[in-house]
Amino acid sequence: MAKPSGYSRVQIQLHWAVFVLIVLQFLFHDGIDNAFDRGLDAGALTLSVPVILHFATGGLILLLAFARLAVRQARGVPDHPAGGVQKTVAHLVHYSLYGVMILLPVTGAVAWGQASEGAGEVHEILTKILLMFVGVHVAAALFSHYVQKSGIIRRMLDPDSP
Ligand code: HEM
Ligand code: HEM
Repeated sequence: MAKPSGYSRVQIQLHWAVFVLIVLQFLFHDGIDNAFDRGLDAGALTLSVPVILHFATGGLILLLAFARLAVRQARGVPDHPAGGVQKTVAHLVHYSLYGVMILLPVTGAVAWGQASEGAGEVHEILTKILLMFVGVHVAAALFSHYVQKSGIIRRMLDPDSP
């Protein structure tokens, strides 16, 4: 299948929708943190509005991550402007981002569903790993756009921008 010249409108909308949802998860996790810690101590986890919101937002991220992979499979993605090692690393980071977007909701659901402190810890470590990959991803996008003058950020703003 020939590679498309850029990302489609749907791919761009999905990228930024997931970005916003992930920011929300990082801004508002005190409610679920406290409910989880208190629940483990008390021997019973209790649902509350912040817990349900964290669960719903996380579930939506999981659904949208699969939707993105489905669109990616069906339509393809544009070729990376750089070649060689930079392209390989970019692909590795993209796949890792998808992996963490899927593992986070899964470990979160196991932590809550099984009242598992261990799964909670793995969930917490994954949030740090996500931050690390996003940091590399954004730094690489800025480097490619401004230093290498590839204009790559336009790809995630304008549909079909090469
Ligand atoms: C991609 C989706 C998700 C993201 C980005 C995310 C993010 C976070 C963050 C940033 C924390 C705070 C960690 C810390 O204290 O440093 C957290 C805690 C937690 N999340 Fe999620 N979460 C997601 C999905 C879910 C889902 C679907 C559930 C299922 C109920 C869940 C359950 C929990 C629990 C139980 C905690 C408390 C863990 C603990 O204190 O050890 N999360 N989450
Ligand atoms: C939560 C934060 C973010 C996540 C999880 C994320 C995830 C991803 C993923 C998985 C891809 C690959 C899409 C594919 O080819 O299937 C991608 C591409 C891209 N992202 Fe992000 N992203 C985030 C934030 C950002 C930010 C803040 C920027 C702005 C600098 C950005 C700019 C881009 C660009 C320009 C591409 C296209 C790269 C290319 O064509 O090779 N992303 N993002």
